[in-house]
Amino acid sequence: MSKIAIFGAGYVGLVTGACFADLGHDVVVRDILPERIDELRAGRVPIHEPGLEELLAGNAGRLSFTLDVQEALDGAEFAFVAVGTPPTYSGDADLSAVWTVVDSLPKLDQRLTLVMKSTVPVGTGEKVRAALDTRGLVGVGYVSNPEFLAEGTAVRDFTHPDRVVVGAFEPGDGERVAALYEGIETTLVTTDVASAEMIKLASNAFLTTRISFINEIANVCELVGADVMDVARGIGLDHRLGSHFLRAGVGWGGSCFGKDVSALKQLAGNSGYHFQLLSAVIEVNELQKRRVVAKLEKHLGKLRDRTIAVLGLAFKPGTDDLRDAPSLVLASRLLAEGADVRAWDPVADAAHLLHGVTFCDSYLEAVQGADAAVIVTEWPELVGLLAPEARGAMKNPLIVDGRNLLDPGAARAAGFAYEGIGRPSPSSQTPAPAPEPDTVQQ
Ligand SMILES: NC(=O)c1ccc[n+]([C@@H]2O[C@H](COP(=O)([O-])OP(=O)(O)OC[C@H]3O[C@@H](n4cnc5c(N)ncnc54)[C@H](O)[C@@H]3O)[C@@H](O)[C@H]2O)c1
Repeated sequence: MSKIAIFGAGYVGLVTGACFADLGHDVVVRDILPERIDELRAGRVPIHEPGLEELLAGNAGRLSFTLDVQEALDGAEFAFVAVGTPPTYSGDADLSAVWTVVDSLPKLDQRLTLVMKSTVPVGTGEKVRAALDTRGLVGVGYVSNPEFLAEGTAVRDFTHPDRVVVGAFEPGDGERVAALYEGIETTLVTTDVASAEMIKLASNAFLTTRISFINEIANVCELVGADVMDVARGIGLDHRLGSHFLRAGVGWGGSCFGKDVSALKQLAGNSGYHFQLLSAVIEVNELQKRRVVAKLEKHLGKLRDRTIAVLGLAFKPGTDDLRDAPSLVLASRLLAEGADVRAWDPVADAAHLLHGVTFCDSYLEAVQGADAAVIVTEWPELVGLLAPEARGAMKNPLIVDGRNLLDPGAARAAGFAYEGIGRPSPSSQTPAPAPEPDTVQQ
């Protein structure tokens, strides 16, 4: 069993640390935020990630948290970099946190392998290797080991990965990193460092391409009377294509997709190549986030002084992450149109990001007096929106289902006018009459 230091106590660093501890390794997680380290030491988890709290508690004996670089590296054989790499104004990845970690490495007696889990542009490994050599840290190996976990299922993704990618300059370093995953059944992909870096960026670019593709198909479906849910199923059953990431909706978001796709586009551009397809993928997504406004206007006319319930704020269910969430764009557009926005999310807190929005404790509270309810994040509890209680609470029973969560027939039978994404919609829908008052009470 090995001693592992992890730099960064965010979604990736904490999950990686907890899972390696669960495999029997000794793990020290280092962050620069004192409040984050205090919380973790007190047994509280600063992020919402299913299963993580239990995993951290169950492996407390093999896990510790520190602000101190020396303490983290004391006896460590591996130093994982799991710090953020957000976009800069130019769309390139901001590697300042990565460089802070690299620059903080002291001269060590033991052999240390620096393992890059953060998503970085292709060529970063070469630059870090050169910087380490310049500083005389030739005893520090370098391995690219990109992370593919998805928030909401991160623990399961770590313990049951589709593959583990290990790109190394020295085969021995790669073998040592691969050995850390012993006990996990998976396919090991060993490559050079640049290819490992590209696998991560290209994977996210491909996933977003699939989503933007099905969203464009959905938009055409709306014009020609087809149902994108059936279309996607029919496409996905083709074994050459597969069914994943063919779900139409209000667009992709999250901490990774936008910045990684942009970073790859800029990387290509900086290298002299115009990546046209990615430009289109990004543009389609930006437009997709705004289409809900037109759907609302189709039913309500101008949105000034209309009350719109925005249901779900996190960029997807199972997480509290609001980074690049489509809900933020939609809520801002609705506010700009003069609408009153009432928002609900079971875990994400957007009060510091959205000013002028009324935040509610339940979706039932959010739809109170609303002219329309928009499902932005497909939290499973939102299927309850079809209950008479919700319909009775709304001023006007219109649902715009931005994630195709609900069955359109059931929604209409429950008395709602319903608009999905890429689904046939009668041009003038007459909602069923409101249920009798005694039914509403049920
Ligand atoms: N979140 C995901 O779903 C996901 C999936 C795969 C890959 N990634 C990549 O993993 C990396 C981390 O993502 P994240 O979502 O965990 O980020 P995050 O923002 O949740 O966490 C990053 C943490 O690093 C800390 N930090 C910053 N500088 C530091 C330093 N010098 N030393 C120690 N800690 C430092 C921050 O305080 C923060 O707690 C990014 O490159 C991201 O693209 C993320």
